[in-house]
Amino acid sequence: MSAILGGVHSLARPLGNDEPLVTLSDVSKAYANGTVALKNAKFNVKRGEFISLVGPSGCGKSTVLRIVAGLGPISSGEVRIGGLPPEQARREHQDMAFVFQDATLLPWRTVVRNVELPLQLRGVSQSERRGRAM
Ligand SMILES: Nc1ncnc2c1ncn2[C@@H]1O[C@H](COP(=O)(O)OP(=O)(O)OP(=O)(O)O)[C@@H](O)[C@H]1O
Ligand SMILES: [Mg+2]
Repeated sequence: MSAILGGVHSLARPLGNDEPLVTLSDVSKAYANGTVALKNAKFNVKRGEFISLVGPSGCGKSTVLRIVAGLGPISSGEVRIGGLPPEQARREHQDMAFVFQDATLLPWRTVVRNVELPLQLRGVSQSERRGRAM
């Protein structure tokens, strides 16, 4: 979670010191197969706060992270990242980061070309991304 929050530098509007950076209000999530992964989840995260989600396998931890990162829709409720819907926050703040639970390396690319991939997806030139990856 901290990796995600650390990257949100510029916000839709300035936040007050005590104003939450991440807000989940009564968030529910049902996957297409009917599995209810979250029911009325609510919590806030302030800037600089380090949060750990702890719970048994399948309780919805990764679902929360994917939602906060703007990687999947919610069924009901509201999520705001610096005042923005998560998908918009992800588009506007390209230095947000998400570390997936399982390896997502592309086995047909070399290590350095895996490191370069996020820069490539952002349209950074080959020479610049190779330098930054190194
Ligand atoms: N794409 C999906 N389609 C259907 N059900 C899903 C999907 N992703 C997750 N689930 C289900 O949603 C529930 C919550 O899953 P989630 O991955 O968020 O749990 P978790 O707390 O991260 O578990 P773990 O500790 O094993 O990583 C589980 O019942 C899981 O099987
Ligand atoms: Mg998980």
